Amino acid sequence: MTYIKPLQKDDKPPYELLLLADPSREMVDSYLENGCCYVAKKNNHIVGVLVLIEITTHTLEIKNIAVGETEQGKGIGKLLLNHAEEVCSNKQYTKLKIATGNSSIAQLALYQKQGFEITGIDHNFFVRNYPESIFENNIQCKHLILLEKRIS
Ligand code: COA
Repeated sequence: MTYIKPLQKDDKPPYELLLLADPSREMVDSYLENGCCYVAKKNNHIVGVLVLIEITTHTLEIKNIAVGETEQGKGIGKLLLNHAEEVCSNKQYTKLKIATGNSSIAQLALYQKQGFEITGIDHNFFVRNYPESIFENNIQCKHLILLEKRIS
């Protein structure tokens, strides 16, 4: 059985998972500082992570979402997305945002299946901000795709 709970203050953040979604330790540390970190646990092991941060009084953003490689494709990502929506709704936020790269096909599929709509593209975001070219699915990751979902 998998369940999600907030990371306790004294617990070490699961960097191995956080860095799967975001290779910059510096960025991860900066949003861990101001955001809320949740972990998915299965058989008492951390198998997934979610970091939410307030963008405006109405909007939360998913800054990081990741599931351990051996546990991917089993529905834990969806559990984490549903949890983010629940937090949003319980705290009276009305919008949930997430962003991913143009080459992240599985992530784009998952987020749109979960009801996120593409709202914008930050052209050449990865070219400008990362020192080396990134390729996924044989596609260069150049642009940041912005998605959001209205939460009632
Ligand atoms: N086309 C269509 N659907 C696809 C797909 C594709 N190419 N690839 C994956 N999917 C769908 C699956 O079919 C599944 O949906 P379904 O149950 O309706 O069939 C869904 O995506 C995956 O759901 P789930 O098993 O809940 O996701 P997960 O536990 O594997 O977690 C991530 C998803 C993205 C969190 C996980 O893969 C991960 O940690 N990736 C590495 C880190 C990362 O990229 N994080 C996000 C940064 S933006």
